[in-house]
Amino acid sequence: MSEPLVLGFETSCDETGVGLVRGQTLLADALATSVGEHERFGGVVPEIASRAHLEAMVPTVHRALADAGVTPDDVDAIAVTSGPGLTGALLVGVAAAKAYALALDKPLYGVNHLAAHVAVDELQHGRLAEPSIALLVSGGHSSLLLVPDLARDVESLGRTIDDAAGEAFDKVARVLGLPFPGGPPIDKAAREGDATAIDFPRGLTGPRDAPYDFSFSGLKTAVARWIEARQRAGEPVPVADVAASFQEAVADVLTAKAVRACRDTGVDHLVLGGGVAANSRLRALAEERCTAAGIVLRVPSPRLCTDNGAMVAALGSRLVEAGVTPSEPDLGADSSLPI
Ligand code: KG4
Ligand code: ZN
Repeated sequence: MSEPLVLGFETSCDETGVGLVRGQTLLADALATSVGEHERFGGVVPEIASRAHLEAMVPTVHRALADAGVTPDDVDAIAVTSGPGLTGALLVGVAAAKAYALALDKPLYGVNHLAAHVAVDELQHGRLAEPSIALLVSGGHSSLLLVPDLARDVESLGRTIDDAAGEAFDKVARVLGLPFPGGPPIDKAAREGDATAIDFPRGLTGPRDAPYDFSFSGLKTAVARWIEARQRAGEPVPVADVAASFQEAVADVLTAKAVRACRDTGVDHLVLGGGVAANSRLRALAEERCTAAGIVLRVPSPRLCTDNGAMVAALGSRLVEAGVTPSEPDLGADSSLPI
């Protein structure tokens, strides 16, 4: 018998993702996004995201099934992000997943969005080494995780105490006059800039600071103040240098803490995930520091780093394989679901 076919739903933020995975093989990864509708607000507007999910959900499911060349009856199990994320956005995905599970009479698995960001790497690089350390950096979260068992035991080592890394990219892009979401345009602008031009602060890196927690709010404010000072002095803002120096500060802290977590726990495998893991400097610096420390680094392709349905299907597939008990019919959405 072939491995189970898992349908995954992701709606925690502004991407409506529907993925189909068989075992660890990706069959379809259909995506709709409301990102353009949030651009003029400089951040995701929850109600706009929820309405967009509602409209896009069924067409995206149909697209995923067509892309994979399967019918709803072929599906063996359904997985859905039940948190963390925007409550209204999550509710649309959970309701849709329940409807399909009920109609198809298949088990439903509510999954944690962060664990799904880790699981997606298996679709590209095969079985994750366990234990691994995971560095997850996106618009909604920045976390260091210890992953002894992806299906049953994922532990939080540290997280951001204020802004997420992606949020800092988005806010800095805004003050630089770059479009939303800010990560890709900063990444691009930084290529022409000097990363050593401005010495921006590295948050929470003092000897008394929590070793695995992050803080990006001070960095964001420092960038805004630096730009204001230039403008007050009537001098032009060197966008590429600011972008490169800011990006360097973020990549430096993230990779230093991830490598430290590996060293302290004796784990020699690191996996990156989340939208910010698409950042070219973060990827290069992680590669450099992991090589120096003898750590095996795994980074999914940028398309799989950002939110998508395949990651949820990938984790669902792991849960089915591990014989984890499916969720109860009263599965809810939890905006701050712990790992
Ligand atoms: O994982 P994701 O798609 O959604 C959330 O769960 O938040 O991450 C989106 C975030 C945004 O803040 C975006 O600016 C950031 O990922 N991002 C990047 C890059 N591509 C996306 N940040 C830095 N460099 C990039 N190349
Ligand atoms: Zn995410």
